[in-house]
Amino acid sequence: MNIAIGINWVYIISALFFTFGLKLLGSPETARKGNILSAFGMLLAIIVTLWDQQIITYTWIVAGMLIGIVVGVLAARLISMTAMPEMVALLNGFGGIASLLVGWSVYAISPEMGIFTATSVIFSILIGGLTFSGSLTAWAKLKELMTGKPIIYVGQQVVNALILLGILGCGIMFVLGPEQGMTYFYIIIGLSLLFGVMSVLPIGGADMPVVISLLNSYSGIAACATGFVIHNNLLIVAGSLVGASGIILTNIMCKAMNRSISHVLFSGFGSATSGGVSVEGEAKSLSPQDAYYVLESAQSVVIVPGYGLAVAQAQHVVRELGELLENNGAEVRYAIHPVAGRMPGHMNVLLAEANVPYDQLIEMDDINSTMEMVDVCLVIGANDVVNPAARDDEGSPIYGMPIINVDYAKFVFVLKRSMGTGFAGIQNPLFFKENTRMIFGDAKETLTHLLTEFK
Ligand code: TAP
Repeated sequence: MNIAIGINWVYIISALFFTFGLKLLGSPETARKGNILSAFGMLLAIIVTLWDQQIITYTWIVAGMLIGIVVGVLAARLISMTAMPEMVALLNGFGGIASLLVGWSVYAISPEMGIFTATSVIFSILIGGLTFSGSLTAWAKLKELMTGKPIIYVGQQVVNALILLGILGCGIMFVLGPEQGMTYFYIIIGLSLLFGVMSVLPIGGADMPVVISLLNSYSGIAACATGFVIHNNLLIVAGSLVGASGIILTNIMCKAMNRSISHVLFSGFGSATSGGVSVEGEAKSLSPQDAYYVLESAQSVVIVPGYGLAVAQAQHVVRELGELLENNGAEVRYAIHPVAGRMPGHMNVLLAEANVPYDQLIEMDDINSTMEMVDVCLVIGANDVVNPAARDDEGSPIYGMPIINVDYAKFVFVLKRSMGTGFAGIQNPLFFKENTRMIFGDAKETLTHLLTEFK
């Protein structure tokens, strides 16, 4: 059997590992195994690719791998959970630039190519380039190196359309004669980098995770195009998997926020400073001691985690409190909103880290149908995902977004530091309801206080 055929057979096995790995990622119980399976598939793919007869030197490859391993391990170890979206944005960007550079090097080595390869090269540098600059812009927004709010100006859509037209025109000219198309090639690189920045500028605030997921999908599509350029079947398969799963995830997030992808990309959501939610009544606060007396006699408790739980790193304390409540005879469940936190599955990952049993994690729709029977809802660092304005106030910017109906429970205790808004930047009428009590302070400190009372 010749080496090329052998390599392709191993690629098929790797692709199977990727596919099964992805399937296992669908549930928190099997996600870890899925990750290991997919990583093993990638290891196999790297090993056989290094066997390729076309490799000229191993020195640069090994040097690059070593640097990549050190940077990757350090970044994964040092990054905090709340900064994960920034890290994903950077990784998407690196995927994009890798595709651009591979497409570029293939063209630089042999500018003579057929229409199919020339088209693949254009897709590889175009999508790679815009993924790179778009991801860096998203990263800078999340890192607050620039404003996180949407940047909108008059004629923005026209400017973007002109850039796209320019790319299309140069792309056609390049494909018709790649050997003489060097100038068009460089213009496309420049325009794609510009387009990446321009298309992320009007997006901000709570929409950033959706954009990052979309850019993740783009990085996969760019890799897929690069696979066609260098005739690597596994790159085509892996790129397609990333591209498709990124789109599916983007769609899930949009649904969970009741928005369309075009609304996310073009509406400049969050550019206004506040939503038109008018609130009545007075927010009443409660001390942890008083909260303890209510919790102590509760038969059914639902814990609703949100972004603040991740900030406070209170996942272990919350698990301890959950166990104490159970030992005290209460039924304890955790209500998981699909976009709670700042990234998909954020709350699942946090609670899994603290060994909260999976069967206690209940999805939004299932918990909502039982909410009227719940004695106490403990809302920990969540805000937008429990905002009743999304359900009741047609004038609210988040109207239509599905929420966890915590206000239907007998008592709602909201653990947060102030009356401040959540990611969407809008007031929350929940805090002013008759059955709501605010327990102000850092979530971890408040929970520790409650634990002490129980003990
Ligand atoms: P948010 O609405 O962002 O609210 C988080 C709350 O946590 C804040 O109001 C903050 O209030 C509180 N907080 C921060 N640090 C705290 C601490 N140390 N202790 C206690 N409380 C603390 O969070 P959410 O309800 O999870 O909603 C997520 C938002 O992200 C939604 O708008 C959603 O649409 C958006 N989003 C998420 C995703 C994904 S995939 N997760 C994707 C797209 C958009 P204080 O400052 O007063 O403490």
